[in-house]
Amino acid sequence: MSGNPYQDDRGNKDATITNPSGRGEIEVSTGTGHGSHTAEAFLIGDSMTGGYGKSGPDILHDCTVAVNKGEIAVIVGPNGAGKSTAMKATFGMLNLRQGSVRLDGEDITGLTPQARVVKGMGFVPQTHNIFTSMSVQENLEMGAFIRTDNFKTTMEQVFDLFPILRDKRNQPAGELSGGQRQQVAVGRALMTQPKVLLLDEPTAGVSPIVMDELFDRIIEVARTGISILMVEQNARQALEIADKGYVLVQGANAHTGTGKGLLADEEVRKSFLGG
Ligand SMILES: Nc1ncnc2c1ncn2[C@@H]1O[C@H](COP(=O)(O)OP(=O)(O)OP(=O)(O)O)[C@@H](O)[C@H]1O
Ligand SMILES: [Mg+2]
Repeated sequence: MSGNPYQDDRGNKDATITNPSGRGEIEVSTGTGHGSHTAEAFLIGDSMTGGYGKSGPDILHDCTVAVNKGEIAVIVGPNGAGKSTAMKATFGMLNLRQGSVRLDGEDITGLTPQARVVKGMGFVPQTHNIFTSMSVQENLEMGAFIRTDNFKTTMEQVFDLFPILRDKRNQPAGELSGGQRQQVAVGRALMTQPKVLLLDEPTAGVSPIVMDELFDRIIEVARTGISILMVEQNARQALEIADKGYVLVQGANAHTGTGKGLLADEEVRKSFLGG
């Protein structure tokens, strides 16, 4: 492998990551609830219906999101579409009325978020995703909370991925720039050595250049075999690096396809990508 393997062409155009056939192993379910998945995605929030609290209205309606091993799946859609809700549901922060969540073939619908972390899920929420008064290093140590083994090597890997964090390791995370804070948040989630990473708008509020850098790092993480399920406001750029894409509207699947396929879809372009 070259020194900088993620730099060239990637996303749906790159069939070399984990999937030599160049196709997903599954037909992506559109959330009908009766799809029989012959070969299942690594993580799937399948036909999820539910909302907040015990009596709150349903926000998700038969909503399905999934990601294959080592791939990048991207969720896009208008504000309030339920993208964050779908992520929270997949991470176990919502009581689903219908549907299920499966990880590596195992039904984890009943598990708490903490138990899902133990199973190999990492989650970076959209907001409040770092401890601002703690140092960068303390944030990473907090990320390792479930580990009883030595996590120093993992921390070095995070510092290799995000070198600026090594320089600023003793600085309060609240003093970092927006892009650097997002690196802390992603680094914190990596400290548990997850198999799948859920990222809710990892490039929120950063400049285009920093966005590109963050996407490059995310691709690099996926290349190590970690699946990435992420919500993105920068829909076009995110779909360019996506193996799979989901457009959510009003809590339901509106369009599903490869990143490339969605980018080429006339309807998706007109309605969600600004033409
Ligand atoms: N904690 C909550 N309690 C009750 N309702 C909520 C809660 N969080 C979100 N909602 C509602 O769920 C719906 C979907 O919100 P959600 O945050 O999932 O949208 P989103 O697609 O992530 O939007 P954005 O692009 O602005 O991040 C909205 O109508 C919102 O008001
Ligand atoms: Mg959101």
